[in-house]
Amino acid sequence: MKKIIGFVSILFVMALFVVSYANAADYIGAKKCKACHMKQFKSWNETKMATSYENLKAGVKVAEKKKAGLEDKDYTTDPKCLKCHTTGYGKGGFVSMEKTPDLAGVQCEGCHGPGGNFSQIMKKNKEFPLAEVKAAGLIIPSEDEKGCMACHAADSPFVEKVDAKYKFDFKERLKKTHEHFPLKNKH
Ligand code: HEC
Ligand code: HEC
Ligand code: HEC
Ligand code: HEC
Repeated sequence: MKKIIGFVSILFVMALFVVSYANAADYIGAKKCKACHMKQFKSWNETKMATSYENLKAGVKVAEKKKAGLEDKDYTTDPKCLKCHTTGYGKGGFVSMEKTPDLAGVQCEGCHGPGGNFSQIMKKNKEFPLAEVKAAGLIIPSEDEKGCMACHAADSPFVEKVDAKYKFDFKERLKKTHEHFPLKNKH
């Protein structure tokens, strides 16, 4: 009997795992968001976030790396750096430049959450209620500083104590993420 109960509970745990895995939204990449949000895309594409992966290459920003205690070497496969210089690393997003080139750099979904589910709702109904897309994973970045601090905090080599220019002022930085455009519909 004990054996059967043990087996059944293992099955149950496996089923839970499968269900929760199926519910976790996929990372779709900035190119997909661009199809419907061209203005935000163009503006974001001019920020340093869009090319952030380049900074992990050898020979790039050598002086800045040295000042932050890093060497001049290839960091493009170092999990420690990929966590902050790509989109969704370790969370079902970026894996490697070979497998997931469209998720390099700090993209839309780094701030707005993985879009596989909420973009489907946006696609079906332009007047979607905000609560519905939030329940499907959309993050409104100004509502929680913690989202930014996952990358802009003390475990980054580039913080205020290395150079004052790396100081993270939430209100000021929110303005520089991309230009903002009025929405057409009420949500
Ligand atoms: C996944 C990690 C990650 C998250 C989350 C994140 N950032 Fe960043 N951010 C970066 C990295 C890395 C850079 C540096 C880009 C570079 O120079 O390589 C950066 C740079 C920036 C810049 C400078 C852009 C420029 O062109 O000068 C702004 C502004 C910014 N982030 C704001 C924010 C805000 C606001 C949030 C939260 C809503 C946030 N970031 C969340 C990783 C992140
Ligand atoms: C915890 C997140 C985090 C980790 C880990 C991280 N970075 Fe960054 N990195 C950032 C952020 C945030 C910035 C932007 C800082 C700013 O502009 O305020 C940045 C900026 C940079 C820059 C640009 C500095 C400049 O002055 O233009 C380089 C180069 C860089 N990182 C390389 C690396 C390398 C190499 C690694 C791995 C050894 C690494 N980073 C690990 C978050 C991180
Ligand atoms: C560094 C964080 C960050 C990144 C990266 C980012 N956004 Fe945003 N986004 C914001 C903030 C902040 C707002 C303002 C809403 C709020 O948080 O109150 C916003 C608002 C928006 C809005 C509402 C309309 C507007 O213009 O304000 C859209 C649409 C949007 N973002 C799409 C995108 C797309 C598409 C990308 C990628 C190409 C992207 N965002 C990348 C932070 C970010
Ligand atoms: C098929 C089209 C489509 C795609 C793909 C899409 N969106 Fe949207 N999104 C919309 C529409 C339509 C709106 C509402 C626009 C309006 O009211 O003006 C919207 C609104 C938003 C808003 C504002 C929400 C609010 O009410 O404050 C954000 C943020 C946003 N999208 C982010 C993204 C991100 C990030 C991606 C990619 C992961 C994405 N969208 C992909 C169509 C799309």
